[in-house]
This record gives sequence, structure tokens and C-alpha cells, in this order.
Amino acid sequence: MLAIDLTGKRAFVAGVADDGGFGFAIAKAMAEAGATIVVGTWPPALGIFQKLLERGKMDASMQLARGGRLEFEHIYPLDAAYDTMDDVPPEVRESKRYLGQGDFSIAGVRDRLRTDFGVPGIDIVVHSLANGPEVKKPLVDTSRRGYLDAISVSAYSNISLVRELAPLMRPGGSFVSLTYMAGERVIPGYGGGMSSAKAALEADTRTLAFEAGRRWGVRVNTISAGPYASRAASAIGFIDTMIRYCEENAPIPRRLEAEEVGHTAAFLASPLASAITGSVVYVDNGYHAMGMAVLPEPQVS
Ligand SMILES: NC(=O)c1ccc[n+]([C@@H]2O[C@H](COP(=O)([O-])OP(=O)(O)OC[C@H]3O[C@@H](n4cnc5c(N)ncnc54)[C@H](O)[C@@H]3O)[C@@H](O)[C@H]2O)c1
Repeated sequence: MLAIDLTGKRAFVAGVADDGGFGFAIAKAMAEAGATIVVGTWPPALGIFQKLLERGKMDASMQLARGGRLEFEHIYPLDAAYDTMDDVPPEVRESKRYLGQGDFSIAGVRDRLRTDFGVPGIDIVVHSLANGPEVKKPLVDTSRRGYLDAISVSAYSNISLVRELAPLMRPGGSFVSLTYMAGERVIPGYGGGMSSAKAALEADTRTLAFEAGRRWGVRVNTISAGPYASRAASAIGFIDTMIRYCEENAPIPRRLEAEEVGHTAAFLASPLASAITGSVVYVDNGYHAMGMAVLPEPQVS
């Protein structure tokens, strides 16, 4: 039987703070396939995430179909806006949402992974995070600061993760990120430079696949997921409309499950995908292929 087997592999999943998004679904799918999981959580969300775990609020979703439970070997604080602690402004460093969390930069995560697991110690890195402070503003009204912040957190962070974590990877290592078709087609309302950030993430996937493939022998892919009502997506404000629209107009007219994105990420990270790199893989019920909405049947009176 040909099965996705990640036994003996360790995945670092950046962007998990509850059980309602793609990062969690990917971590769970990879654990189902046998991988061990370390997660990176945005410092302001870390306390709530730890409380959810301690109080058993996520117990049902942590249950694995193969038996046992999803366990996190470690939960590291990670703010993907910062490459090193030198980049962190004093007001962030001293804010109570960040105080006492140690080095929460990308270099900090690299150092923790190196200390906790040695070199090489990881096999898979998942970038499942994004933030656009002005996402509700049309692109044309977005400030330079808001635009650059969206690109910094949502796209540049992936470059930084590849550079810092690829040297910690065992042969056959794999990077996967999450993108959205707003990077290539107009999605009205997906503003604040987030569409630009997704376009950058997709272009970078190709270039990083080349550079990191030659330098470290690792693969770099991105999954273009259909709309899904995670916490981040709900913040955009019209996620239910996007979901309904895709459900009505996609070739497979039904709701996308986060688990389906998880399964694809597990496949891409597995040896079964050993020749796939530099790809944008659509997991959207085929919606990206459409050029026209499905019109309602004409009413016959
Ligand atoms: N939900 C959708 O409809 C959809 C569709 C396509 C792509 N995506 C992408 O999927 C990825 C995961 O998003 P999701 O929708 O599952 O939501 P989510 O809320 O589960 O994940 C987003 C995560 O990003 C984290 N984050 C925000 N700023 C951060 C920072 N500076 N440093 C570190 N972490 C930070 C948040 O704490 C959160 O855990 C994102 O890249 C998103 O753009 C989502």
C-alpha cells in the first residue's frame, strides 16, 4: 500500500494559536502520518493558546484518527516580523504581551530548534501565518507602512525561515507555505497589500525552490487554499460570502475542509512528493480554474 509516511520526521509549524486554522490542520495531518510536531505561536496569542490546551478545550480536536493524541514537543514564541531581537522596537519588547518570552525572533526559533534537537534535527517547515494591519482598506488607500508590514510578516518571513532553518534540515527537507488566489486575481476587499504579499510569496516560492534546492537540497512549495473561516480570515470581515461564493461556483461545489489542506501539506512534505518543488498547489475545490461565475438557471414563468 502506498501511504503518506512521515515516521521519524519532525515538523516545525509556524502560525498555530488555536485549532481553527490551516496550521493546526496541517500539524494534525502530519502527526497522523507519523511526524512529531513543534509549533511557533505569535507571542500575543501564546497565553490564550496555552490556556486552551491546559483547560482541555482542544481535547476533541487533538484526538488522532490512528489512535493517540496530537502532542506538541515544544511551543515556541515566534513573531515573524523580526529576524533577530535587534529588530524589535523597545515598545514591543517592553509590552506585557511580549515580556518574559525570551528570543521570539526567527533567529530565536532557529536557536531553540538547534538546542532542543541538534543539527540536523528537523525535516519539515510550515509557514502558516499572515497579517496585514490594513487588510480592510482598499490597496489604493493603504499606507506605505501598512503595505510594508503586510509584506514583511506575510511574505518576507518565509524567506527568512528558509534561510535560517534549511541548514538545520535533514536531507529531503521540505518547506510549505499558504497562499491565496488574491495574489493572482482580484478579490475585492482583500486589501492592505495582502494581495501583493501573496503575489510575493508565490514568486518567492519559485526562486527559493531554485536557490534552496541548489544550496541545501530542500524543496519549497506553497498551497493556494480556498476560503475557510479561520480566526485570521474571519477578521477580514466577509469570509462567509467568500465561502458561499466558492461553494456555488467551484467545479466541486462544496465547502472546503481544513483537513484537505492538511492532507496536501503532508503529501508535499513526504517522500512521495520528492520531485515537486517551486509549485503553487491549489486546494480550493478547483475554483481557480473558473473564468465565469455559474449563473442561476433562468426562471420560467
Ligand atoms: N482562511 C483562508 O480563507 C485562507 C485562504 C488561503 C490562504 N490562507 C492562509 O493560510 C495561512 C494561515 O491562516 P489561517 O486562515 O489558517 O488563519 P489562522 O488564524 O489559523 O492562522 C494565522 C496565524 O498567523 C499568526 N500570526 C499573525 N501575525 C503573526 C506574526 N507577526 N508572527 C507570527 N505569527 C503571526 C496568528 O497568530 C495565527 O496563528 C495564512 O497565510 C493565510 O493567509 C488562508
